[in-house]
Amino acid sequence: MAHRLEIDGVRRVFPGRAFGGPSVVALHGLSLTLDGARPEIVAVVGESGSGKSTLAQIALGLDDPSAGTVRFDGTSLGRMDEGGRVRFRRAVQAVLQDPFSSFNPFYRVEHAAILALVRFGLAPDRRAARSILADACEAVGLNPADTLGRFPHELSGGQRQRLMVARAMAMRPAVLVADEPVSMVDASLRATILAHLAAMRDAQGVSIIYVTHDLTTAYQVADRLIVLYRGHVVETGTPEEVLKAPAHPYTRLLVDSVPWPDLARPWGRVPKVADGAPVADGCPFRGRCPDATAVCARMPGPAVLSPTRTVRCHLHRSPPA
Ligand SMILES: Nc1ncnc2c1ncn2[C@@H]1O[C@H](COP(=O)(O)OP(=O)(O)OP(=O)(O)O)[C@@H](O)[C@H]1O
Ligand SMILES: [Mg+2]
Repeated sequence: MAHRLEIDGVRRVFPGRAFGGPSVVALHGLSLTLDGARPEIVAVVGESGSGKSTLAQIALGLDDPSAGTVRFDGTSLGRMDEGGRVRFRRAVQAVLQDPFSSFNPFYRVEHAAILALVRFGLAPDRRAARSILADACEAVGLNPADTLGRFPHELSGGQRQRLMVARAMAMRPAVLVADEPVSMVDASLRATILAHLAAMRDAQGVSIIYVTHDLTTAYQVADRLIVLYRGHVVETGTPEEVLKAPAHPYTRLLVDSVPWPDLARPWGRVPKVADGAPVADGCPFRGRCPDATAVCARMPGPAVLSPTRTVRCHLHRSPPA
């Protein structure tokens, strides 16, 4: 059955620290729907602190939004009964940004995955579960004989990260939320793992939220791109649309900061402006924007540039209907 994950108007405010530190709005009313009937890879990109992991945690039900809702098959996560929670846990798998936090240091690395595979009926017994996990390890370039049976601290960061991917793949999820799943993996394996994610989409109909600050891999695997700046969605579209002709000055800055393989392409053309102070209202990027004018003191509405593409910038208007 095709599942549907809806992130609807999600806002997340982290309260300030003691002694009057300012609160941080990590997400400002973000919406994103993954419709299992049309499986796709949605890349969420943006620089450090833009709210990517906050979005991933909320999509996984590991953190609660301050406002807005996350619904799975039409039911809000907050209102799910025990049975719904179990179905959600089985169907929506995670690869977290900090792979160490995903393993219990007192158990061998395969412990939780084997229990889950048996509990969710994906394997009749522990032995069969171990075999499923071993196959998934091979898919991400891990030798199961060297990996399974170890304790988390005995693996490198990249090995732990690949094991998280293998563990999530073995669960045959409907949705995968992968937060920087290949950031610690070297380039050759990175391509292999991303190819496996694309194969999961194509062969098993898995919808994937791929969180990354790496535009090149987002370009390679994603069907849709969401560009976050300080918790605001500033641009969305296909990777072709967004990365070949970025509409938002922030996306342009991100794209120009990447040393693309095309040698003719200038690199770092837009100087990387120091991160400006947070602005209370108006366009959040205006303190850093080379194109800012007085009108940017007002928050731009989203302009719809194509059926797949939106941008939040006063430089753009929706074409008249
Ligand atoms: N538990 C928390 N308490 C307070 N502030 C937080 C917490 N988690 C995140 N933040 C803040 O929310 C904002 C978004 O953080 P988030 O971790 O979502 O960014 P990110 O895009 O994943 O960054 P990175 O690329 O570095 O992983 C940041 O300003 C961060 O400091
Ligand atoms: Mg993060």
